[in-house]
Amino acid sequence: MATAIVGIIGGSGVYDLPGLTNVRRERVTTPWGEPSDELTFGEIGATQAVFLPRHGRGHRLSPSGINYRANIDALKRVGVTDLVSVSACGSFRSELFPGLFVLVDQFVDRTFSRQSSFFGNGCVAHVSMAHPVAPKLVARIAEAAKAEKVQHVVGGTYVCMEGPQFSSYAESLTYKGAGYDVIGMTAMPEVKLAREAEISYATVAMVTDFDCWHPDHDNVDVAAVIEIVRRNSATVARLLARLLADFPGEHEPCPIGSDRALDNAILTAPDA
Ligand code: ADE
Repeated sequence: MATAIVGIIGGSGVYDLPGLTNVRRERVTTPWGEPSDELTFGEIGATQAVFLPRHGRGHRLSPSGINYRANIDALKRVGVTDLVSVSACGSFRSELFPGLFVLVDQFVDRTFSRQSSFFGNGCVAHVSMAHPVAPKLVARIAEAAKAEKVQHVVGGTYVCMEGPQFSSYAESLTYKGAGYDVIGMTAMPEVKLAREAEISYATVAMVTDFDCWHPDHDNVDVAAVIEIVRRNSATVARLLARLLADFPGEHEPCPIGSDRALDNAILTAPDA
């Protein structure tokens, strides 16, 4: 059984992980290029954690400019077994209000300008994305949220757009009409790559705005997003600290096999 090492990817406004002890930073290189930043290693309670700010410290990288393959590969190389990403998102439902955390369980990928697989010619593989998040990891995040009295909902569909511009009104209404719950620019292809890397993955989507469909709310802008993220940064830290403090020492086998995703995925013959 593998020791559990929990990776945390911080999104907009989340550039460090407060509460880590024995902190050490290391630049990890990968065959895919440079990750967004150095990895920060440390512990909370008895749990080993590795933190990576998705946009880099100082928010240098745009959603389309992030090297998602390098980020996931770097985390895999240092032994991450379970990965939690924190992402700001817009909401398509009145009841999903700014400040609420949505533990999404489905994704729709509308990105078109990103490297979204470790596989290609030479080694062909098709992993299942039917159930993109690891249910035990989601349950642990929900337990941590409950224990810390953090307002959250379990389940929801996240549509990932390319950006960097926000959606038009027509796009916003289209996504809402399709039944999607939240929108962001960064969960894809992170979710797919984590699956290919056999890392159990979950997203904590922090609602920051109502995009531009809501008649009673202003259209989203960066200032509004950052204001909500800033107001909730202590809550994110508390949620993650509790999750890590209560995390089991051994990685729990994923009931849907997210940590064994390549077992039935590779088509290329080993000697081809
Ligand atoms: N991130 C935060 N709010 C967003 C929105 N409305 N659309 C896309 N990405 C977002």
